[in-house]
Amino acid sequence: MESRDIRQTFLDFFDQRGHVPLSSSSLVPANDPTLLFTNAGMAQFKDTFLGVEQRPYNRACTIQKCLRVSGKHNDLQSVGPSPRHHTFFEMLGNFSFGSYFKRETIRYAWELLTQVFLLPVERLWITVYIDDDEAERLWEETGVERRRILRFGEKENFWTMGDTGPCGPCSEIHYYLGSDVNAQRAEGINGVDDDYMEIWNLVFVQYNRDEQGGLTPVPSPSVDTGMGLERLACVLQGVKTTYETDLLRPVLQRVMELVSKDGDHYRRYRASYNTIADHSRAIAFLIADGVRPGNGWRDYVLRRIIRRAAYVGKTLGFERPFLASVAEAVIDTMEEWYPDLRIKREIISVVTTAEEERFNRTLTTGLRFLEVAINRMAQQNTAILPGREAFKLYDTYGFPLDLTQKILAERGLDVDVEEYEEGRREQQERSRIATHSKRGREKED
Ligand code: ALA
Repeated sequence: MESRDIRQTFLDFFDQRGHVPLSSSSLVPANDPTLLFTNAGMAQFKDTFLGVEQRPYNRACTIQKCLRVSGKHNDLQSVGPSPRHHTFFEMLGNFSFGSYFKRETIRYAWELLTQVFLLPVERLWITVYIDDDEAERLWEETGVERRRILRFGEKENFWTMGDTGPCGPCSEIHYYLGSDVNAQRAEGINGVDDDYMEIWNLVFVQYNRDEQGGLTPVPSPSVDTGMGLERLACVLQGVKTTYETDLLRPVLQRVMELVSKDGDHYRRYRASYNTIADHSRAIAFLIADGVRPGNGWRDYVLRRIIRRAAYVGKTLGFERPFLASVAEAVIDTMEEWYPDLRIKREIISVVTTAEEERFNRTLTTGLRFLEVAINRMAQQNTAILPGREAFKLYDTYGFPLDLTQKILAERGLDVDVEEYEEGRREQQERSRIATHSKRGREKED
């Protein structure tokens, strides 16, 4: 099943069950200074869950653009080597604002997966929160074998959007991708084996978490679910990684064409190819949603992603800007569902290339500086790069800290982050004083 049909089938299913299909909100959250980027489908409904905002409906469903690059939900480090983690992804979600709770949520999810998408029951596993007897009983009543329902604690089965906000115990559905159905083991769930994959998270929203970590009940128990489109597409298209689905394959294909090496090269540097494909989606969608590379809170995320992708491209042999061409493939693949990308085609290209060129001017010398520092570390028998060197890479060569960390991690090395932060604070202080005295001089003039 093609991804466009998956999206439509999902929305139709919930529409037929009284949910209002709504558009994805922007990646830049409206009026929420606690959230860097939209990281889940529920973000646009936060105030509704909390009872602060009333809506003329109590059921909704969406296909939400999400970005997970920082804070509580940060998948940046996993992107590349992982067959299924992404910075940008689409989340399919159904929501109840006090309309229904655990019973219907579980019934709907099971019906959609097993009777509409026809997933084989013998490959599905369920997890519930450690003390959630009710959810376990409801899953059993739905027809799931007891041995396939597992209990996990806070880390896996209590979902919060961030440090504060709506939250509650959750129940997840996992899928076994392995070739031998008889080889499945309960220990595989939430483990490191890529044959097991979480596909859908059903959150039973019961509380609001405040800044002190305290939990207060929300006005009425609600539901927030999220299923990764890329992962479901992976299952429904019979492939092992999200990069082989129709959502990412054309983008990866573009990277391959541009690198123009053989299949062996791709297999050897798969993580780098994947990273570029992944980051190009984030870049295109962020720019389309109005973000520009810069040093501000949100702008710096885009800068980091572009620079990371540019660096990875350099390791694959790119000498000139190439990211705009990959972003073109993203637009071609996604514009049907997100027509905004088509309208923003030109600006996506211009902004991406300008930032890439800016970084390319210092990338080679920065890498040389880092190489010298690494040699010195070897002589001094240390695996930690002094923070002031990392700061110089940032300040002089435009290397975001996480890029320096990534390059070092590839060789089993790390950065003294505390010292780096110290350098950054000192610089901020210096520029604060400089601005202050400049203002003073202007006044005197
Ligand atoms: N908000 C939940 C999640 O992102 C569904 O996993």
